[in-house]
Amino acid sequence: MKSSNIQVDTDQRTMRITIDRPKSLNALNTRTIEELSQAIDQAASDDEIRVVVITGAGDKAFVAGADIAEIQALDENGIRAFGDLGHATMNKIQHLGKPVIAAVNGYALGGGCELALACTLRIASDNALIGLPEITLGIIPGFGGTQRLTRITGSGRSLEMMLTGKPISAQKALDWGLFNQVVGQQDLASATHKLAAHLAKSAPRAMRSIIDAVNQGMDLPLEDGLKIEKDQFIKICRTKDMREGTTAFLEKRKAVFRGV
Ligand code: CAA
Repeated sequence: MKSSNIQVDTDQRTMRITIDRPKSLNALNTRTIEELSQAIDQAASDDEIRVVVITGAGDKAFVAGADIAEIQALDENGIRAFGDLGHATMNKIQHLGKPVIAAVNGYALGGGCELALACTLRIASDNALIGLPEITLGIIPGFGGTQRLTRITGSGRSLEMMLTGKPISAQKALDWGLFNQVVGQQDLASATHKLAAHLAKSAPRAMRSIIDAVNQGMDLPLEDGLKIEKDQFIKICRTKDMREGTTAFLEKRKAVFRGV
């Protein structure tokens, strides 16, 4: 699929989405978010796709935020529609049920940070800067940042980031659990590819169950979360992939998972 503000390439069970507006540091305007949302729908409906990677075009930015010129021109209804679209798209990414890797290749600010936070895993280049600078514009994060950042870093660190608006370095984001991995700028593509290739061979139904259990249980009391896990465990133990995985172990060979 080729559309104007994103590029979508599919190879070896991995869909790679590149936000492609380098002149505005890949800022998210309505059209870009709509195209991203459509690509995620495509990933959801295609069983051949096991992993999604989201990155930014160029070597400077992942995404430098929502498009400031666009939001400035919106009236109240327009802002509501923009917020709805942003939230719906980030939710779709979080609940895709397939791993979505953010390959953060530079600035991940505002809506760009929020896009990375909605992803399942985040791998970054060592020049990346991530933050929620909305306060400097007199606004607040609008695509889930107040909630998702707090759940990852805890309220002390997320409040510091949001109230000062100051982005943090890749190393600090790694230390705070915001990034899963940080690599040299020139190694980001290969490290992302390696991670995606590993996940693409994993059992898709088990990955979905893990993602669902974490998503659904994260905000519940422990007992309720454990019940979700138990239900998912019972469900997954009835799959052909469970039979294949356990048989392969006992036969001392590599499992080939089919997602059934
Ligand atoms: N929206 C629209 N355009 C943007 C943009 C954004 N978020 N970020 C950068 N651009 C544009 C700039 O206006 C500039 O365009 P021109 O060349 O036409 O002037 C171009 O991208 C390059 O940017 P800079 O010249 O500013 O590049 P720099 O290297 O000097 O600075 C930067 C880089 C620090 C990332 C700086 O561009 C910046 O601070 N950008 C805005 C970051 C921001 O505030 N993001 C939050 C947006 S609001 C939001 O996201 C709300 C929400 O939660 C949904």
